[in-house]
Amino acid sequence: MSDHESSPMATSDRHDLVISDLTVEFTKGDYTVRPLDQLDVTVPSGSLALLLGPSGCGKTTLLSCLAAILRPTSGSITYGPSNITRLSGRPLTDYRRHGVGVVFQAFNLVPSLNAVENVMVPMRSAGVKQSGARQRAVELLERMGLGDRLDHLPSGLSGGQQQRVAIARAVALDPPVILADEPTAHLDYVQVEGVLRLIRGLTDGGRIVIVSTHDDRMLPLADQIIEMRPNFSRTEDVAPTTVTMAAGQHLFRQGDPSDLIYVVDSGRIDVVREAPDGEIPLASLGPGEHLGEMGPLFGLPRSASARAAVDTSLTGYTAKAFRDLVGAERLPSLIRGR
Ligand SMILES: Nc1ncnc2c1ncn2[C@@H]1O[C@H](COP(=O)(O)OP(=O)(O)O)[C@@H](O)[C@H]1O
Ligand SMILES: [Mg+2]
Repeated sequence: MSDHESSPMATSDRHDLVISDLTVEFTKGDYTVRPLDQLDVTVPSGSLALLLGPSGCGKTTLLSCLAAILRPTSGSITYGPSNITRLSGRPLTDYRRHGVGVVFQAFNLVPSLNAVENVMVPMRSAGVKQSGARQRAVELLERMGLGDRLDHLPSGLSGGQQQRVAIARAVALDPPVILADEPTAHLDYVQVEGVLRLIRGLTDGGRIVIVSTHDDRMLPLADQIIEMRPNFSRTEDVAPTTVTMAAGQHLFRQGDPSDLIYVVDSGRIDVVREAPDGEIPLASLGPGEHLGEMGPLFGLPRSASARAAVDTSLTGYTAKAFRDLVGAERLPSLIRGR
């Protein structure tokens, strides 16, 4: 997609995007989530990178850092001469406006504006004149195959059409980087195809496109796959811990932050869901069986309580150690960069 508008970041000086040692930590009390842990990735100019991984593994967090919406705990993201993580004031506003275009999962169109007007929004706030903005919006929408939908409101468009309007809006100011957060999540099977082809086409002219997705139909279109997984700093590189419990004692309670995954060595553990009208038994686990893997692996709090039915002994593993224990093939693997 070649573009005529001049912007502070012209096509001629497009660069690689370099993510170095990027760490993001969220801390609540003594509980720390580290969705990004020393991530190193280079996305070359003109390429499409996919962020793959289960919910909670840090895809949106990474995209937020790339969009300069979230400041990382440490590390850097550089695009040519600028370190995006250090921008503030005017350069930050410029970067958000002209440096990146963002496509969200839930289209985020203004419901009271038609397709053309939605695409005009970023151009108008960047000071592009009404007539020029309108002309470019129409042109972009025509390229997206929406020439006969120009004056439709979002409510009169299908999900796939709305997402194409959102893509046109994201490229309106010709940013050199496009970020899309699960852009096909709300689309039906047929609509996905067209949207994927458009996204692939966005890399023309040296533009970088970074897309988070669960959709494996995007895989063949990608130049690079960044596979991500949930990560708990507190549980990293911790040796297995032995826990002994008396009958009736809780190992963890529903809603607690998740840390370890447990294997029963001896005794028995009851797993129960705590519902408003009482406990619902979910499982009763004996020697060799494991429990509590969902939270640590997917970055969620405990979804149930676990209590010793009799005197019990367990071994607690970090998500990483557990992965090593059961074998990588049974769990999402980790490939960072390529
Ligand atoms: N603002 C925040 N405060 C605390 N924790 C957060 C915040 N944003 C995200 N997280 C946590 O960081 C992890 C990664 O979240 P996210 O980037 O949204 O994952 P994904 O997009 O892959 O589903 C999750 O454990 C989530 O709960
Ligand atoms: Mg997300």
